[in-house]
Amino acid sequence: MINQLLPRSAADRSDDDLLALYDYPSKRPWARFNFIASLDGSAAHQGVSAPLGNEGDRRLFGLLRRLSDVILIGAGTVRAEGYAGPLVSEGDTRWRTDRGLSAHPALAIISGTLGLDPDSDLFRLSPVRPLLLTTAAVDPERVRSLSEVADVVIAGAESVGARTCVSTLNDRGLGRILCEGGPSIFGAFLAEDAVDELCLSLSPLLTGGQGSPIAAGADNPELHRLALASLLESDSALYGRWTRATSR
Ligand SMILES: NC(=O)c1ccc[n+]([C@@H]2O[C@H](COP(=O)([O-])OP(=O)(O)OC[C@H]3O[C@@H](n4cnc5c(N)ncnc54)[C@H](OP(=O)(O)O)[C@@H]3O)[C@@H](O)[C@H]2O)c1
Repeated sequence: MINQLLPRSAADRSDDDLLALYDYPSKRPWARFNFIASLDGSAAHQGVSAPLGNEGDRRLFGLLRRLSDVILIGAGTVRAEGYAGPLVSEGDTRWRTDRGLSAHPALAIISGTLGLDPDSDLFRLSPVRPLLLTTAAVDPERVRSLSEVADVVIAGAESVGARTCVSTLNDRGLGRILCEGGPSIFGAFLAEDAVDELCLSLSPLLTGGQGSPIAAGADNPELHRLALASLLESDSALYGRWTRATSR
């Protein structure tokens, strides 16, 4: 059961309620990030985020995927979490095609080194041809081998620029961006002020200081202010949605 605390209190939200609450604003492109953190600020336990989640978090995680044009992730998250196979359920694909969306959201991965195995389940089992966003400095041999299983796009000289990444996706009709992390990607996007929204699940768990926070490596000293759009609760976990204060 998921209860809505804000904008106004309401109990046991249905999937349709939640999809309406999390619908993307009309502005395109829109870069939404979805993270989970423990109460003491860790983004992972023993190297992965799954132990922090509960049923409500997993439900919201799936609903956010359902609404997106593209799921964007960093290569570190792919390597840690083992992304493979369809990222939405069969029910989700029906919901999407009924609304004129592609059956599956696109999958885009940011990697500077292209240190990904072309024979891995990530590529073998994906229902869509992944898009790899990399840099001009990457080893051409890596580009050659991964081009057999994915579209490789140069999106920066030495590092992938967040704004270049967003416009590359938008130019492909993928304006509803759902970035599932990880912390380095979030830091890179914050450094370019390219984050439109943060959906953050606050898990009622304490990890004792293990794991990085949800943002890492941003050398931009600016503070970024977001506005609370909604707040949900389930089984002592809080699910907040913060958007750019000036977005709507
Ligand atoms: N709590 C959560 O919601 C959540 C979500 C996601 C991940 N995580 C956790 O976060 C940890 C992984 O963290 P992470 O920071 O390594 O993951 P990450 O941000 O997904 O990936 C980092 C990698 O992305 C590539 N990258 C990042 N910025 C880049 C840029 N500007 N240009 C080019 N490439 C860039 C590099 O890949 P290459 O090395 O291939 O060049 C880098 O090693 C795992 O423990 C995972 O479980 C938690």
